Amino acid sequence: MKAAVCPAYGPPEVVRIEEQPSPTVADGQARVKVSAAAVNFPDVLLIANEYQISVPPPFVPGSEFVGVIVETSEGTAGFAVGDRVTGTGMYGAFAEEVAVPTAGLTPIPDGVDDRRAAAFGVAYRTAYHTLRSMARVQQGDELVVLGAGGGVGLAAVQLGVQLGASVTAIASSTEKLDVAVGYGAKHVINHTCGDLRDALRDAVPGGADVVVDSVGGELSEPALRSLNRGGRFVTVGFASGVIPRIPLNLVLVKGLHVLGFQFQDVPPDEFARNEEELREHLVSGRVHPHVCAVYPLAEIVAALKHVAGGRAIGKVLIDLT
Ligand SMILES: NC(=O)c1ccc[n+]([C@@H]2O[C@H](COP(=O)([O-])OP(=O)(O)OC[C@H]3O[C@@H](n4cnc5c(N)ncnc54)[C@H](OP(=O)(O)O)[C@@H]3O)[C@@H](O)[C@H]2O)c1
Repeated sequence: MKAAVCPAYGPPEVVRIEEQPSPTVADGQARVKVSAAAVNFPDVLLIANEYQISVPPPFVPGSEFVGVIVETSEGTAGFAVGDRVTGTGMYGAFAEEVAVPTAGLTPIPDGVDDRRAAAFGVAYRTAYHTLRSMARVQQGDELVVLGAGGGVGLAAVQLGVQLGASVTAIASSTEKLDVAVGYGAKHVINHTCGDLRDALRDAVPGGADVVVDSVGGELSEPALRSLNRGGRFVTVGFASGVIPRIPLNLVLVKGLHVLGFQFQDVPPDEFARNEEELREHLVSGRVHPHVCAVYPLAEIVAALKHVAGGRAIGKVLIDLT
């Protein structure tokens, strides 16, 4: 099979396509013939050895895939050859086949095509658990989304609208903001065009209830300042590469709640509820992921660079059919 391989840490250009044997399955694992994979920002970080954890090279990058099970093993009850599934892991997805524990697989609902399933994974799950269980978004909340053109940000715009929030989308280009408006954002701010604090005062004169921040850097503080008393600021990641330092007096004076999102911190009962609600959003078509580009596996470097540069709008996919 063909696989993208990271032979040594570095920029996306280090990744190359190699011929490899099909992966063997251990007990509890299934082998999946991959039809599509999503490119996520952490894939770029893992290849550069800038992620929270390190994977020793050589390794096959790619953390999210959809495909069909072609082999099962002992301890994979509930899954069978021919099942259409979606899965996540730290690495291994940018290949024609991947062997993974079935615990990390989810059946794809009927009527949902492979690309939609691939694009609806990590980004939408991150955004939805953040909005529901960290920010506790309510109908009528003023929600401010940084990085609103990116994978997590655009998902937060769409899902925030579904939860009844009034969404202010912040991004670096008109193109990104136009897409956010198409998904229901009420106000948009291009943060490259002036002072973000002033722009937020104009867009949300009554103040914001929630900020979702997947960018960090110099945008975080003005966004936090836009919050009303008791507002919730959820940090999801630092795509800008800069971890902001927030003066705590801002938190104290308004009694703000500053939270960090990690999947494992969502209480199990809420996790199950959120996943079921997400599934309904996907199956009903109420939420439709935006895919800005699809690359063949042979162009994996271009796909990674697309995401690494912050240019992606919504999701970038790899087609392995
Ligand atoms: N906590 C979790 O469980 C979790 C889960 C998924 C993702 N994340 C993290 O969330 C962050 C966003 O992920 P994503 O998939 O939404 O990424 P993405 O699609 O690449 O979007 C990131 C956004 O960040 C902004 N940005 C600013 N400087 C950038 C730079 N130097 N390089 C790239 N982007 C830059 C861009 O918005 P502008 O238009 O404003 O420039 C871009 O649209 C990442 O740090 C990722 O690791 C965390």
